[in-house]
Amino acid sequence: MSDKTAKLELNGTTIELPIYEGTLGYPVINVEGVQAQGYFTYDPGFKVTAPVESKITYIDGDKGQLLHRGYPIDQLAEKADYLEVCYALIHGELPTKEQKQDFDSKVRNHTMIHEQLRRFYDGFRRDAHPMAVMCGVVGALSAFYHDGMDVSNADHQEITAIRLVAKMPTIAAMCYKYSIGHPFIQPNNDLDYAENFLYMMFSTPADQNYKVNPILAKAMDKIFTLHADHEQNASTSTVRLAGSTGANPYACIAAGIAALWGPAHGGANEAVLVMLDEIGHKDNVAEFMERVKKKEVKLMGFGHRVYKNFDPRAKVMKETCDEVLAALGINDPQLELAMELEKIALNDEYFVKRNLYPNVDFYSGIILKAIGIPTSMFTVIFALARTVGWISHWLEMHSEPYKIGRPRQLYKGYDERNFIEIADR
Ligand code: SDX
Repeated sequence: MSDKTAKLELNGTTIELPIYEGTLGYPVINVEGVQAQGYFTYDPGFKVTAPVESKITYIDGDKGQLLHRGYPIDQLAEKADYLEVCYALIHGELPTKEQKQDFDSKVRNHTMIHEQLRRFYDGFRRDAHPMAVMCGVVGALSAFYHDGMDVSNADHQEITAIRLVAKMPTIAAMCYKYSIGHPFIQPNNDLDYAENFLYMMFSTPADQNYKVNPILAKAMDKIFTLHADHEQNASTSTVRLAGSTGANPYACIAAGIAALWGPAHGGANEAVLVMLDEIGHKDNVAEFMERVKKKEVKLMGFGHRVYKNFDPRAKVMKETCDEVLAALGINDPQLELAMELEKIALNDEYFVKRNLYPNVDFYSGIILKAIGIPTSMFTVIFALARTVGWISHWLEMHSEPYKIGRPRQLYKGYDERNFIEIADR
C-alpha cells in the first residue's frame, strides 16, 4: 500500500482516494469512496479496472513482458516442463526435485475419470463442437465432486487442483475421440503429461505399439506452458467471479471454458485457421487486407487488449512452429500464407498504428495442425492448458477473505412508470 492519494472533486467536495502500489506495473486508485458521494465508476470492458490483488502473473503490454511467479515466459518455456509451471502457478515457487516427483506422481494417479462420466459424452450429437462437449463434461465433474466439498478447506482445494490438471487431458482427448467415432483411450501413466495426451489423442486399440513422436510431445508441452495463465483475462475473471459466490470449483472452471470459447478470446486460434482457409492463397492477401481495413473482417491472431508491442508467447510459439515444421519436413502452404500476412501486418501503417502484432493464437493454430490436431480441437487444448491458471486464481481468491463480485451499471432505461393494460398498448 502507500500513503499517496488521488484527489477528486465531486459536487464541490474534494475527496481523497487511496493509491496502492504493486511490485510492478501501474499503481491503482481505490475508487470505493465515490459511492459515498453518490457515484459509481464507469469502465466498459474493464480495460482499466483492477478488481483484485494478485501474485500469480504479471504482464507489461508495452514491454511485451509476461511473468509467472516472477519467471519470464520464455525462460519457463525453455527450461521448465508444463507440470513444473503448474506447480509454480499453484504453489508460488518452482518445485524442488522431491516436490516435482511428488506432484508428477499425484497428477499421474488422477488422470482417469469416473466410468459414469464417460456416459455424458453419449448425450452429445456426434457433430457437437468439442468445446461444447468439454464445457458440459467439466461442468458434470461438479456432480462427482460436490458432496462434502468445502471450498474453504485447503486439502479439498489442493486435491481439486490436482484432479483438474490431471483429468483435463483425458477429457480433452475423449472429446476428440468422440467426435471421430473412435473408442476412448485410457491414460497410460508410464508416459509424461504431454506425451500421454497425444497418446490418448492418436493411439487406437488396433495400434497397441503406438509411439508418440518426442519432438511433438515437447512442442505440445511448450504450447501448454505458453497458454497456462494470463492475468485477469476474460475467462480467468469469469472463474473468479463465479468462485466469489462460493460455487463448486469444477462448475467455475466450466464457466471459464465457456468464456474462453469466444473467437475474440481463446477461440482465435481456430479462427486463424478458418481465416487462412478463407484467404486460400498468397495472391488473395492484398484484397483480404483491404477488407480488414474497411473493418469488414478482423485479422484473427493479431492484436491484443494488453500487448501493444508484441506478445512474448508469440515469439516462443513462432520458434516452436519452425522447429516442428522442420522436424516433420512439412512445407505448409498455410504457414507461407501466415508469414505473408505477418510480413504485411508488421509493415503496413494501418496495423502498425493500431499496434496489431501477432498474438499467441497466430502461430499455435499452425503448430497444432502440423501435429495432426483438427481445428475444432484448438480451443479445447487452450482450455486444457489454461485450467491451471484458472484454478490458481480460484485458489488465490480462496486464500484470503473475499466478497462476492457485484459490478454496478449506468442505467439508461425507463424512469418508473405505471403498468399499461394490454388493451391500451
Ligand atoms: C487471447 O486477455 C487475454 O490475455 C487473452 C489471451 C489470454 O492468453 O488469455 O491473451 C488470449 O485472447 C489473445 C487474443 C486472441 N484474439 C484474437 O486474435 C482475435 C482478433 N483480435 C481482436 O479481436 C482484438 O485484437 C482483441 C479482442 C484481442 C483486442 O481488441 P481491442 O482491445 O478492442 O483492440 P484495440 O482496442 O487495441 O483496437 C484498436 C484498433 C481498433 O480499430 P480503430 O477503432 O482504432 O480504427 O485496432 C482494431 C480495432 O478495431 N483491431 C483490429 C484487430 N484488433 C483490433 N483490426 C483488425 N484485426 C484485428 N485483429
